[in-house]
Amino acid sequence: MSERPHAPVLLDEVVDALAPRPGQTIVDGTFGAGGYTRAILQGGASVIAFDRDPTARRFAGDLPKDRFRLVERRFSEIADEVGEAGVDGVVFDIGVSSMQLDEAERGFSFLRDGPLDMRMAASGQTAAELVNETDETELARILFVYGEERESRRIARAIVRRRGDQPFTRTVELAEFIEHALGGRRGAKIHPATRSFQAIRIAVNEELSELEAGLAAAERALKPEGRLCVVTFHSLEDRIVKTFLAVRAGRTPAGSRHAPPLAAGAEPSFRLLFNGAQGPSAAELQANPRARSAKLRAAVRTAAPVWRAAA
Ligand SMILES: C[S@@+](CC[C@H](N)C(=O)[O-])C[C@H]1O[C@@H](n2cnc3c(N)ncnc32)[C@H](O)[C@@H]1O
Repeated sequence: MSERPHAPVLLDEVVDALAPRPGQTIVDGTFGAGGYTRAILQGGASVIAFDRDPTARRFAGDLPKDRFRLVERRFSEIADEVGEAGVDGVVFDIGVSSMQLDEAERGFSFLRDGPLDMRMAASGQTAAELVNETDETELARILFVYGEERESRRIARAIVRRRGDQPFTRTVELAEFIEHALGGRRGAKIHPATRSFQAIRIAVNEELSELEAGLAAAERALKPEGRLCVVTFHSLEDRIVKTFLAVRAGRTPAGSRHAPPLAAGAEPSFRLLFNGAQGPSAAELQANPRARSAKLRAAVRTAAPVWRAAA
């Protein structure tokens, strides 16, 4: 184990929902510091873990080689790795880990100065490239859609004006610039750059499209009666999970305004394990305030074929 391990969120609830047993194989799609994986291994099941961040491997050293392996891949690719209908459970703990957030050099935090990076993986577009190269309309869209930032156009305009003379390279530099562009803090409860940083991080890591593809990959990878558990941290993510499960469980008419059109006549491929979402207990909140907005949704795979989007 390394310094500052991530405190696993909703751990008891996730283990209850997955109900791991000896002989089962569970996919932990977001290994992080391995908190879920350790609890699943303790339940006697085998784990195939995924993390796109190569540094996650430092938390895997002491795990039993005969029942565990870690794959450095995106979780949208789990079915390619484990095959169709091959596993008894899939869990996703969506978002960044405490290690990623707290290490200044990763560039996720506007409170700790570091390079404007924000990539979970070791490759792909950095936050600096996104901020310095995206055209103004697209930048405003990213800030509005992924950050729910009402001042998205104002911030995008200011960034584009300034970057021509001096490209952005550092986290604190960008945070202070956004704060200034919005006219200071004006008694705001959160830092004025919070929403913009969330938006840039989501765009850099393609987090929402990964989540959609990950859910579809889990549908392919799970055996009948296999369980899917997803923990999310904000409403954009939770909405995707809620909609996916409602549609696949036959609770929302396919092709409604909440969901893409699907092949007519598809049988429900999931049934909900419980209605709605579970949140943290008072005890967990007290121990780990970062769990505040966490939500768990869970469902059981039926024997129905995988749904395919209509052409
Ligand atoms: C919130 S942490 C998981 C913490 C973990 N449950 C634990 O108990 O330690 C999320 C992890 O998922 C990884 N991750 C996020 N999106 C991913 C994706 N699309 N594919 C693979 N890993 C991803 C991140 O790199 C991060 O390490």
